[in-house]
Amino acid sequence: MSSRTDAVQIGPYRIVRQLGAGGWSTVFEVESAEGYRLALKRLSAELTPVTQARFRREVECLRRIQHPGVLHLVDAGLDDGAPYLVTPLVNGTSLRQLLTRGPVGVEAALAIGVAAADAVAAIHAGGLVHRDLKPEHLIVTPEGNVVVIDLGLAIGPEHSRHTAEDTLTGSVPYMSPEQIDDRAPSPASDVWALGVILYEAIAGRRPFERARQSEEVAAILSGRHTPLDDLTAMSPPALARLVASCLAPAPSQRPADGAALAAALTAQVDWTSPDRLVEDRTALVREPDAFLARTRERRVGLAVQAAERALASGDRFAATREVERGLAYAPESPPLRGLIEKLMSGPLRVAQTVRGHAAPRPSLSPVPVPVPVPDSASAAPSLVPSPLASGSPSLTPSPLSRPRWPWLVGAGALVATLAIIAAATRSGDDRAAATASSGSTPSARAAEVIPGRPDPLTGIDPTPGIDEAALLGGIPDRVLSSRPANVTATKPAHVKPSRPAPGRLPAAPP
Ligand SMILES: Nc1ncnc2c1ncn2[C@@H]1O[C@H](COP(=O)(O)OP(=O)(O)O)[C@@H](O)[C@H]1O
Ligand SMILES: [Mg+2]
Repeated sequence: MSSRTDAVQIGPYRIVRQLGAGGWSTVFEVESAEGYRLALKRLSAELTPVTQARFRREVECLRRIQHPGVLHLVDAGLDDGAPYLVTPLVNGTSLRQLLTRGPVGVEAALAIGVAAADAVAAIHAGGLVHRDLKPEHLIVTPEGNVVVIDLGLAIGPEHSRHTAEDTLTGSVPYMSPEQIDDRAPSPASDVWALGVILYEAIAGRRPFERARQSEEVAAILSGRHTPLDDLTAMSPPALARLVASCLAPAPSQRPADGAALAAALTAQVDWTSPDRLVEDRTALVREPDAFLARTRERRVGLAVQAAERALASGDRFAATREVERGLAYAPESPPLRGLIEKLMSGPLRVAQTVRGHAAPRPSLSPVPVPVPVPDSASAAPSLVPSPLASGSPSLTPSPLSRPRWPWLVGAGALVATLAIIAAATRSGDDRAAATASSGSTPSARAAEVIPGRPDPLTGIDPTPGIDEAALLGGIPDRVLSSRPANVTATKPAHVKPSRPAPGRLPAAPP
């Protein structure tokens, strides 16, 4: 460790303040002789051939990528024998800081995710894999850019993974299964990390989050996690499937690289034009509450339109799902509540649907089925108030605050069940009947079966246990003793109770 930790000058740069410190370097805001504010990273670990080689590699990587979303090299030098590198100073808020208020919600996560994936695409186009993507390393600027920082672990084909300078690995919760297993990383490894980041930004907890790091590693290797749309109705099934595909244990099953992910995420942007996402990011960083209020309003409008369209075409389940999604944003919304009334009326049409064998498509969102239909509307529980309205510091209503209206959902589930049982009886297909009794059509079930998802029939939740302990045997100590997980800042959201097993009724609403 250099003795100059209290220095006021590093090379020609005057130290303004310390910005951060990692295991082997310290980052300062500095001022150049010309008066420019920059960021300077200086080796603070002992100067050895290994640390020197690692620093040189970071300098090479920073020099290679030229993209507004990726930090680039301004200068490099030696100070008292210790290497340092200089980059532009990124003024902004890291995604980690944004997440300290709670999950940021689907729109903000997508707005940031599209730009982050685009920046990571530039890293991949330059022949590198970042290998250390996490919320701390994504900075959102007030101008609405996202800048990927810390190329300290970036690796290209010319770098051997088995040199001594590669003994440090990434941050465990964001390390892909292949990184944990010490297999070759690829652009898909960064896609995996972005999948974890997106999931965390939307749900408020990581997909494989566990109390112990060793358990989290085992969960990562098993690939089993609660689907995103089981945690929050704000997430449409298509987005949940995309995020789950990023988290597939096999790299070949994920979007191939940053560019593929950026395109897939852009296709999920339905509340604004993708070329206006920069405005959303600016608003998110400058005025998060105003951004969220606007988004909520827009979402309610979209949900009402979509639900009315679905109702007009007789698809009550699609309408129900749209209303449910809208209510996750605004539980008290009068137009959405009006739609509930509409959905609750018209039992005749429901019966006709059953007689006509036009089985409505059950919602892929986590409808708790089957539930009893109460005798009267008086049994309807009131909607859970939004945590925003109650002054919660969360940026979005917590996934826990999803409105529960099992009486409505129960009616829908019953209709689906009856219709599917009728179809199954006609075809004599026992399997379809069994599927129907669990509330899911074969086609819906097929759509739900994705790597890492719990079985929608049994509702088994991938909480720690069974295989995960066994998996631990093969994990190199290198991983378990690597940099500590940065796990403290995000407010944990709780996992919604898993779906009831077939035939078992969920607890009655209060
Ligand atoms: N160019 C920069 N502009 C602003 N802050 C920076 C910059 N580079 C790093 N930081 C801050 O310093 C912290 C540590 O930097 P990082 O490059 O991650 O170092 P390490 O390799 O030690 O992890 C970052 O999390 C960030 O808060
Ligand atoms: Mg870092």
